[in-house]
Amino acid sequence: VSGPGFRSIARAGEEIVLIVDDTPLGMARGRSLLAGLLLAGRAGAAADFFCAIGQCQRCLVTVDGRVAAACMTYPSGGERVSTLAVDGRPPPWS
Ligand code: FES
Repeated sequence: VSGPGFRSIARAGEEIVLIVDDTPLGMARGRSLLAGLLLAGRAGAAADFFCAIGQCQRCLVTVDGRVAAACMTYPSGGERVSTLAVDGRPPPWS
C-alpha cells in the first residue's frame, strides 16, 4: 500500500513463513505480526487490538511460547504463533 503520508516498510517480494495455529502463513518481511495476521484474516483474539503501538496489550499472542504484542513483533520466519487469548478474554467475535 502506498500513498500520501504512508510508506510500507514491508519489503515487496521477500516472504517469510510462520506457523500460525498449526498452519503455515506467509507474510512480507518487515510487516508487523499484527498486520500479517489481519491481512490474512487469521488474527484470532488479536483482532480485538486497539492502539497498534504496544500500549493497550489487546493484541497479545504467543510467539514461540512467549506472550508478545503482535503489533510490536516483526517476525523473521519460522516462528510458531498461537492467536488464542492469553488472558482468558473471549474472542472479539463471541
Ligand atoms: S494493539 Fe495495542 S498493544 Fe498491540
